[in-house]
Amino acid sequence: MINRPRRLRKNPIVREMVAETRLSKDMFVYPYFVVPGKGVQNSIDAMPGISHFSADTLVKDVEAGLKLGLNKVLLFGVGEQKTEDASSCYHDGSLVANAVRELKKAFGNDIYVITDVCACAYTTHGHCGILKDEVVLNDETVAVLAKMALSHALAGADMVAPSDMMDGRVGAIREKLDANQFIQTAIMSYSIKFASAYYGPFREAADSAPNKGDRKSYQMDFRNPNEMMREAFLDEEEGADILMVKPALAYLDVIQQLKQQTQLPIACYNVSGEYSMVKAAAQAGWIDEQKVTMENMYAFTRAGANIIISYHAREILENKWM
Ligand code: PBG
Ligand code: ZN
Repeated sequence: MINRPRRLRKNPIVREMVAETRLSKDMFVYPYFVVPGKGVQNSIDAMPGISHFSADTLVKDVEAGLKLGLNKVLLFGVGEQKTEDASSCYHDGSLVANAVRELKKAFGNDIYVITDVCACAYTTHGHCGILKDEVVLNDETVAVLAKMALSHALAGADMVAPSDMMDGRVGAIREKLDANQFIQTAIMSYSIKFASAYYGPFREAADSAPNKGDRKSYQMDFRNPNEMMREAFLDEEEGADILMVKPALAYLDVIQQLKQQTQLPIACYNVSGEYSMVKAAAQAGWIDEQKVTMENMYAFTRAGANIIISYHAREILENKWM
């Protein structure tokens, strides 16, 4: 026998040498849920290890994360006044705008702040846009999202991440930012975002579940590989800087296919349901949390993701799992 692949698996040294996929802490983005008040840090039942933070405790937690090398955060606002027109998502003093200012005041350019841009946590009905006669209006919603993105940029956000799946929102946000001299504020688009049951725990965390209907008229049908490429290319044409695939674990084929067809960096969102499944099974003693978590992270990377948005990121670095 000439070919013996096991030669290169003989010991850890040679295995490390020939490893084809590398992970780096620089790939991780860590999500945070920002709530009103002071001194708040309340754990979220459906997402063990993840909490709601007020701006002051957020700053403290981010500081601890920075020491581990976690220097990119994705912010979600929870607990803002809910209205029909989502107007609380774009005012100057919004939870998210305020949190961005506090983070930038504390850490300046040592922290890279990304904000989620979507209306679902700000509407009475929980849909990701303006609702009329049970239809989510596209263009009216896009106008609101552009204002929301601008308010985050004004507060100092480095990057905005529209997660709504309206048509034309990336272009509208780019135009709005540019018209206000925020030419350096980047857009990471949730380009291929599927209508997924894996967002369940998040909707509890963000209090953003639609009280009627579902999101299938705007989020994508997971059966459609052609349509998903179309969505990604539209965002690319409209000026997205990074394309995201969401969820990640059940969509590794999507990440891989997109990687072959775009020159842009690809982010994947290892969403709440994926996280909570690992946590629950680990708590029950059915799986090894460290090993399963790292296997998942390598799977995203091997598939072609350059950026991993994950609730696991903090623990991975804290526990030196890589
Ligand atoms: C808001 C938004 C959602 C997620 C990110 N942004 C929920 C949804 O679309 O219903 C999901 C994130 C997660 O599950 O971790 N549009
Ligand atoms: Zn939404």
